[in-house]
This record gives sequence, C-alpha cells and structure tokens, in this order.
Amino acid sequence: MADNQATAPIYDALIRHIKDSRGNFHVPGHKQGQAFDTEVLSLFGRILPMDMTEVGELDDLHQPTGVIREAQELAAQAFEAEETFFLTGGTTAGNLALVLSCCRRGERLIVQRDSHQSVFNGMALAGVRPVYLSGRSDPMTGGLNPIKPEDLEEAIRRYPDSKGVFITSPDYFGRVQPVAELAAICRRHGLPFLVDEAHGAHFSFHPELPDAACHAGADAAVQSTHKMLPAMTMASMLHLKGGRVNREKVARWLRVIQSSSPSYPLMASLDLARRWMVQKGQGALSELLSSLSLLRVKIRGLSYLEEVTSDDPLKLSIRAKKSVSGYRLLDWFGKRGIHMELADHKRVLAVFSVGTSQEEIGLLVKLLIQLDKEVIHMPGEKPVEGLDVPVISESRLALGEGSSAWSDILLEGAVGKVAAEMVIPYPPGIPLVLPGEIFTAESIRWIQHILDNGGRVRGIRPGFPHKVYVIQ
Ligand SMILES: Cc1ncc(COP(=O)(O)O)c(C=O)c1O
Repeated sequence: MADNQATAPIYDALIRHIKDSRGNFHVPGHKQGQAFDTEVLSLFGRILPMDMTEVGELDDLHQPTGVIREAQELAAQAFEAEETFFLTGGTTAGNLALVLSCCRRGERLIVQRDSHQSVFNGMALAGVRPVYLSGRSDPMTGGLNPIKPEDLEEAIRRYPDSKGVFITSPDYFGRVQPVAELAAICRRHGLPFLVDEAHGAHFSFHPELPDAACHAGADAAVQSTHKMLPAMTMASMLHLKGGRVNREKVARWLRVIQSSSPSYPLMASLDLARRWMVQKGQGALSELLSSLSLLRVKIRGLSYLEEVTSDDPLKLSIRAKKSVSGYRLLDWFGKRGIHMELADHKRVLAVFSVGTSQEEIGLLVKLLIQLDKEVIHMPGEKPVEGLDVPVISESRLALGEGSSAWSDILLEGAVGKVAAEMVIPYPPGIPLVLPGEIFTAESIRWIQHILDNGGRVRGIRPGFPHKVYVIQ
C-alpha cells in the first residue's frame, strides 16, 4: 500500500516526462501544444504539454501498474476505501459501471426513485427491473424526507431476489440519507449497498461534515471530485470496500464505458485534489465553515428571505418567504453577474467549496441584503404542489425495454399515457417521469411549470409545441 500522501504520482510523472522528452511521435495531434489555435495559446498553452497519452512511465488507466495505480492507492487511503478507480467520464461513468457490474438482464435492483439519470441509464443498459424506493413526502415542506430504514427492509422483504440497493446521498441540495442504517440492513441481507455520492467528495475531510459513505459502511461510493473538491470537470472517483462488489467486473465495465484515451490533465487533477485535501483540506474547510456560519447569521437577520436548511453546510438554499420562484431569484442574481448552481420552483442554490473566496462571500451577503429589500416587490407565484411518489413501487418495464413502439404526442395530451423516455429537468438531472411510468396531470403541470420558467427539460421533443415520447 502506498503511504506517501505528500506525493502526486501522476502529476510528478507528467512533469518528469515533459522535462525529459526530446521528441514526440505520438498522439495527440497538438504535439504538446506545438500546433494549436495561436489566439488562445496563452490560455491553453500551460496545460497542453500535460495532455499526454500512455507513453513512457505514464501508465495505463485501464490496466494500471505504475503511477496511476500508486495515485489510486493514495486516493483509496485518503477516502477510506480499499480500492479506488479514477474516472474521466464523471460520476456518470461510475454509476453506469456499478449497475452493470451488479446486475444482469431481467434482474431487480432497489433504487432510490429520485436518483440521477445516470443510475437509470445504467439500468437501461443492463436491462434491469427497478424497484423504486422513496423517502416519504413531508407535508410541511412539500419535499421528501430521508428513506426510512423500515421501508428498505420492506422493499427487500417484498423483492427478496433484488441484487442490490442503490441510493443517492447527499442530494444536490445537501440532504443526506441515513447511510449507516441502510448499509447495516444491506449487510444483514448480503446485498451490495451502492451510493451515488456525487455531491459528497468533501465529507472525508472535516469532522463537522456528514459521514462519508465509505466510512458509514457503503460497499461502493461514486464521487464527483470535480463538483466539491478542487479537480477538473469530469474528474471523479469510484471507491470500493469489502467483497460484495466484484472489482474485476467494475474494472471491465469501466474499460467498456470510458475512453481508451483518458485525459491526463483530468487524472492529474484527481491526484492533485487528493493531495491538496489531505494536506490542507481540513484547515481550508474550517475557515470556510466559520465564514459560512457568519453568512448564515446575516441570513437569519433578513426579513423576506430564509435558508432551506440541509445537512451539508457547503450548500445554501435560499427561498423567499412569500411565494417567489427560485427561477426568478436565480435570474436576479444572474443579471448582477452572480451565477448560482441551480434553482427550482421555490429555492435557489449556492454551492461553496474550498475554492470560494472571502470576497465572494462578502459580495453574496451584500446582494442578499439588497434582494431582501426587492423580493417583496416581485410578483408572487401560485405554489406548485409536491408530486405524490409511492414509497415502494415496481417499474412496469425493465428500463430500456419497449423502445421500438414509441410515438411523440403533445405534452398536454399525455395524461394516462406510458412514458417511453425519461423526462428530466436539468439541472439537477433527476427524472420527473421514468420509462414505464404514467404521465399524470400533476407531472405534466410540473413539466409545464419548469418550461414556463425557462428551465431546461431533457426527454422532450425539441421545438414547439412541447411533445413527449410515449409507448403505444
Ligand atoms: C446525484 C448526481 N449523481 C451523478 C451525477 C453525474 O455526475 P457527473 O457530472 O460527475 O457525471 C450528478 C450530476 O449532477 C448528480 O447530481
């Protein structure tokens, strides 16, 4: 086991390679930046020499024996895993590989209903029959509560042939699931417990943050290192622990799913993010957390805005006390050059990380004070009712089935029809309607509401009037 967290083996090897190389007769075609659009070379030029392929001692992501293996071992140590795979296709690639590794065609998987599209796409590729599990609706907030452990027990009792359990924790807004309790249930039943931890890569680095999934007993956790830690977009990690997920199969599926020419800048950024967090993460997070506590004191003093609290202090959801949509708030910030992560009908989400500067937090405070004065004059909107989601339900289709008999019909005419395609507000990428589910008046009202507010919805036929795909 590698034990030197102060090194960054992939990055170090790249730097050695750049220094020692005297001629380059391999891909990529820009030849380490020798040919590139000259207008942008000042921006791209520093990174292009690192954009390499598997030459010299740079190792091979798909069969690592050298620096990539070492870097992955260091990451496994830092994130409390037994084995870590670097991903250059984001958590999307990791989620696909996990589903494909754990299930075969026609088998069942218990899956959180509000999972990311990549989990459902994995099930469609594998031909898996989903058993949906959901938190119960909270009448106070209109949202969903965390999954109740007894509901997972019940799902396993009803579907004892299920091949595993796949949940998401935390969600986009920072709400966590009772990971340790759910993991204990899965362990008792001998089921692999898989966690989409795309938004929780920072949890390992500060005691005031929720427990990381690997620490709490997950067999597998996939993290978008690029979302919450200082790594480049698409750079993620898949962590495994214990023997319930077959490591060979995961490696095999990752070879299928990911490019055979993975990006070295992305892999180096994973290596460097791990080193940075091990060396400086706790200190930087402590500073950030105390600035965020002060920010929250200011927010509590506002008259017309409030925080929708969550479990992750690095996520801040703001809503107006009167019914102004989150989309309107997002737009208000956007017009002032402040770009928030996303909005929904009731809130706007700000995401912080160790990269957030004090100046930015100061600016946010000023703007929140200004918005607090203006929000009262913004037009109110009719609240949208929460969707009624069953706690346990079985899909009428194996995902990916029934693709031949599709047609598209007007959105407003789809009530009672069976969806052929996922309908996904993006962001956050959580399908509102899944293949095999029936369009209800409620779900259509939601889709329409998002579209009317300028939100993007995938799975709708491009153009106007809006059409959706249904099974005939
Ligand atoms: C819960 C969740 N899982 C998975 C993903 C996919 O992550 P990536 O962008 O790293 O592929 C996202 C992306 O937003 C997400 O929100």
